[in-house]
Amino acid sequence: MRILVIGSGGREHALVWKIAQSKLVDKIFCAPGNAGISDLAECVDIRPEDIPALIDFVRREKIDLTVVGPEAPLSLGIVDEFNNYKLKIFGPNKKAAKLEASKVFAKQMMAKYKVPTADFKIFTDAEEAKKYIDKIGPSCVVKADGLASGKGVVVAKTINEAKDAVTSMIEEKIFGDAGNRIIIEECLEGAEASILVLTDSKEVIPLASAQDHKRIFDKDQGPNTGGMGAYSPAPVVTNELFNEILDKVVYRIIDGLIKEGIDYRGVLYAGIILTKEGPKVLEFNVRFGDPETEAILPRLSSDLVEAMLATADGKLTKFKKFGGLNWDSRACVCVVCASGGYPGKYENGKEIFGLDEAAKMKDVVVFHAGTKKSPVTSHTLTGTGQSPVKYFTNGGRVLGVTGLGNIIKEAVDKTYKAVDKISFEGMNYRKDIGYKAIANIKNQISK
Ligand code: AMP
Ligand code: GLY
Repeated sequence: MRILVIGSGGREHALVWKIAQSKLVDKIFCAPGNAGISDLAECVDIRPEDIPALIDFVRREKIDLTVVGPEAPLSLGIVDEFNNYKLKIFGPNKKAAKLEASKVFAKQMMAKYKVPTADFKIFTDAEEAKKYIDKIGPSCVVKADGLASGKGVVVAKTINEAKDAVTSMIEEKIFGDAGNRIIIEECLEGAEASILVLTDSKEVIPLASAQDHKRIFDKDQGPNTGGMGAYSPAPVVTNELFNEILDKVVYRIIDGLIKEGIDYRGVLYAGIILTKEGPKVLEFNVRFGDPETEAILPRLSSDLVEAMLATADGKLTKFKKFGGLNWDSRACVCVVCASGGYPGKYENGKEIFGLDEAAKMKDVVVFHAGTKKSPVTSHTLTGTGQSPVKYFTNGGRVLGVTGLGNIIKEAVDKTYKAVDKISFEGMNYRKDIGYKAIANIKNQISK
């Protein structure tokens, strides 16, 4: 089979890496990909949002399956367009993708189908939103309705902070039309976890649980990022909780979508917070999480392509009957190395050192996110006998260094040993990825 993966981050590198292990696959393309991906797939310079160009490419290259990484093309309706041409694609259609593309839609669906989530109100008028903030007091969360690259959520501690968020979203339009409507919701407390499932609307097959680390600094300090690290499994999600989340969140929302005439096929991601009142949904995503995917896929022992084909074809029940998904019981940790200054301004083009040394370690994979290779010229090929290829930073999140271990502590130690081998000017990473999981397990043992 010939596969096209759309996207260019660590998630897409992990997808390409796992897809490359499938016995069904002959050749992988990635649009647009990155330096790490280009070692496994042929990268083609097409933007994920350029749907006509992607369709042309898929028809010309006779691609058998297209896998969509990021949310933007899904929310633009790439799946519907591919279906019109009878081209096979993994991901939800435009109506289903609204679950992520519109937080208002997601909240309304949750309210209608009794999926537990934070109490909320929807606003289009800044003055009314601010009056409401005065009424409810500090400690609320302000969210832009539309897609904002993970930056459209402000967890406010003071009334002024909440009001400033309203001003910047509705009045200053920092997220453009994505902030035409906003949500103000109660601030919840508890541990967070990411629950991802494969579904074709008739069947649900859960992936292993994971936990993301959204804040830039250790101990969950500083602004939110796209994700600074992840681990899988998330020990805080016991079997009992996992089943409760499936019952109260996953099945209810999929049933609700069916009742609304929406056929969901792909990965459904529920961002969960475990409150004293039980698990509640913070957000839905309609795609693989990043960096959760980097921590989940190394634990998957089944063929991902078979699972994706079954999902796209609506044959997950049969797939499950013949074995479903199997998992490596080891723990996996992914530490994101970011450019200095991220999630604010940062510089690209810093040379990355130590990649080969880290990749040589057993049970370690270095997934690339924002990276670029130096062009290999005849000049660089001559000379010292050293590798002619140089890697440079080319984005905020640069690498996802990933390690497996028998227990989470072992995975954490191994991953940080690999991180120690890597360097680039301004490199920043969190030193506490996985520590919550270690603490949680210690707690469970001492109980
Ligand atoms: P979201 O993109 O909606 O998942 O929000 C990003 C992050 O903001 C989440 O991972 C939480 O840490 C935090 N967050 C979102 N909504 C709430 C809420 N209602 N209460 C507390 N924290 C929240
Ligand atoms: N890790 C959070 C996300 O993928 O949105």
